[in-house]
Amino acid sequence: MTEQHQQVYPVTESFKKQALVDRAKYDEMYERSIKDPEGFWGEHGKRLEWSKPYTKVKNTTYDYDNLSIKWFEDGELNASVNCLDRHLEKRGDQTAIIFEGDDPSVSRHITYRELHAETCKFANVLKTLGVSKGDVVTIYMPMIVETAVAMLACARIGAIHSVVFGGFSPEALGARIQNGKSRFVITADEGVRGGRTIPLKKNVDKALESDKVPDVERVVVVTRTGGDVPWDESRDARYEDLMKSASADCPAEPMNAEDPLFMLYTSGSTGAPKGVLHTTGGYLVFAAMTHEYVFDYHDGDVYWCTADFGWITGHSYILYGPLANGAKTLLFEGVPSYPDTSRIGQVVDKHKVNTLYTAPTAIRALMAEGESCMANSSRDSLKLLGSVGEPINPEAWEWYYRVIGNAKCPIVDTWWQTETGGILISPLPGAIDLKPGSATLPFFGVQPAVVDNDGNVLEGKTEGNLVILDSWPGQMRTIYGDHERFKQTYFSTYKGRYFTGDGVRRDEDGYYWITGRVDDVLNVSGHRLGTAEVESALVAHEKVAEAAVVGYPHEIKGQGIYVYVTLVHGQEPTDELRKELVQWVRKEIGPIASPDVIQWATGLPKTRSGKIMRRILRKIAANEHDQLGDTSTLADPGVVDELIAQREFKK
Ligand code: PRX
Repeated sequence: MTEQHQQVYPVTESFKKQALVDRAKYDEMYERSIKDPEGFWGEHGKRLEWSKPYTKVKNTTYDYDNLSIKWFEDGELNASVNCLDRHLEKRGDQTAIIFEGDDPSVSRHITYRELHAETCKFANVLKTLGVSKGDVVTIYMPMIVETAVAMLACARIGAIHSVVFGGFSPEALGARIQNGKSRFVITADEGVRGGRTIPLKKNVDKALESDKVPDVERVVVVTRTGGDVPWDESRDARYEDLMKSASADCPAEPMNAEDPLFMLYTSGSTGAPKGVLHTTGGYLVFAAMTHEYVFDYHDGDVYWCTADFGWITGHSYILYGPLANGAKTLLFEGVPSYPDTSRIGQVVDKHKVNTLYTAPTAIRALMAEGESCMANSSRDSLKLLGSVGEPINPEAWEWYYRVIGNAKCPIVDTWWQTETGGILISPLPGAIDLKPGSATLPFFGVQPAVVDNDGNVLEGKTEGNLVILDSWPGQMRTIYGDHERFKQTYFSTYKGRYFTGDGVRRDEDGYYWITGRVDDVLNVSGHRLGTAEVESALVAHEKVAEAAVVGYPHEIKGQGIYVYVTLVHGQEPTDELRKELVQWVRKEIGPIASPDVIQWATGLPKTRSGKIMRRILRKIAANEHDQLGDTSTLADPGVVDELIAQREFKK
């Protein structure tokens, strides 16, 4: 981020008039949230309906040996009641979900009453299939209303949903089903995105063929296309058949605030993806509250988050946050480029969307198309724009602001993670002046700090690693089945602090500028991927002896995947093999992990103890081999010159 981009966009006049929070109120609320978290969250927790009110609010310590994170621990509630039943009296006939199909001629409104009835019916279906409180239910679905129903139905009976992104391969799906010891899978016959079908049910079958995935008892299949799919009578059941006879009366399971609500797999710098576990009370309070304040949500607003249910953004800001607030949330089945790149503008106009929340990669892709993609829409209804998932470069910010938002809508650049459950750093649009590329200031109750590599807290204008000093209600509680790994991953780097894995700069106004991951996690088009995951997929190929994966700057995707491959002795490095390896990774993980560049390497730069020096590989991939730094610790420095000489580059 260069200094010349530090233009400030002050809070707009219209937001000054309508906003829930102005600067003075933000300062006052923030201060209270830090000085008196008990009082602050005790009050804001009441935004939900509790079947048993809490008397305790915050019971947390980041002390490594006694690590404990509990919020509202003696309270009881049910997430589906808070998202549905609670609204029936006042807004039962109001739209809860606006469904916009992949096909632009398809859309429909689902009211709170309808969504409630469907959820209760499906909750009863799940019960008759044998699902009970605490069971893990895997959801591998397209972006359709039934996915929301499935998630809420799990919440209603206290089952833990584990949504697996529909773009993941059978192998990746199987690994997640097995890690969660899930006995139930909900899927659709086929998904439809961008005019193409995705063989979801076939993928489930493939995943379950593996000996490594023996536990699945029932598979529920929603009919989306009616396409021909393989069927196992003893295991598979049609959603529509099951729903026919189901009762719409299903009392909700009272859940302790600290009972699990869902798990969601995400990538780390090492090992297999981990099941991030979120609990009920704190998560829902935080998702609802951030949704209201960050998006300055007012009753009746039409709100559209373009994420997928397969990611945390889909959980917190398509489903739980908006529905807990009684909002109208738009659910989009398709992609921004189908039938053509005018789609986003078209959907905004069609449904009079007030708030649009999307990812920088989507903005950059539209920007590359030119302004004409917005020419046949007015987007007059928009009041606010949001960005999430990766750093937004100031050029994309300005384009988003000027072309999509008609130079009148503030942009909330929201920084957070799967682990944080909700937004931690973001402007509140009526309170905080904006600087393109900066996530600005912390949300209530969030205490960010910048530390150097030794863990010293740095003050004032500075740059370093981003940590959070104390717990907030939406924080993950553990890694499913591996609490030790949870402690190790997040609390061992800087003892007593939550380590985010991100680098950050803080400017003279105290604004935070996220600079990207400082660990071995990639962020490709806003999708998080571990380099280790891609590497282990590659070395599973019989012709690959060794592989090292790094990210490199990519104009649209933010980061691209750059792979160095050493072949097994005697194998020829051909273009066919290159294609084969790309296909292989797609099969092992999914299309989001497709390598952008494969460089054949006769050797990799290693320390004398055998550790690959990725720092050097990143520099070579980024075409910055004049800035390699110290290479004296390498076992064989000659390897580096060879890699530079062999370097190939393609976008
Ligand atoms: O590196 C940060 C980046 O995305 C990571 C979290 O990824 P995930 O768990 O998949 O969640 C994405 C959606 C919340 C972070 O560690 N990131 C997320 N939002 C931003 C961001 N980087 C910069 N600016 C953001 N607004």
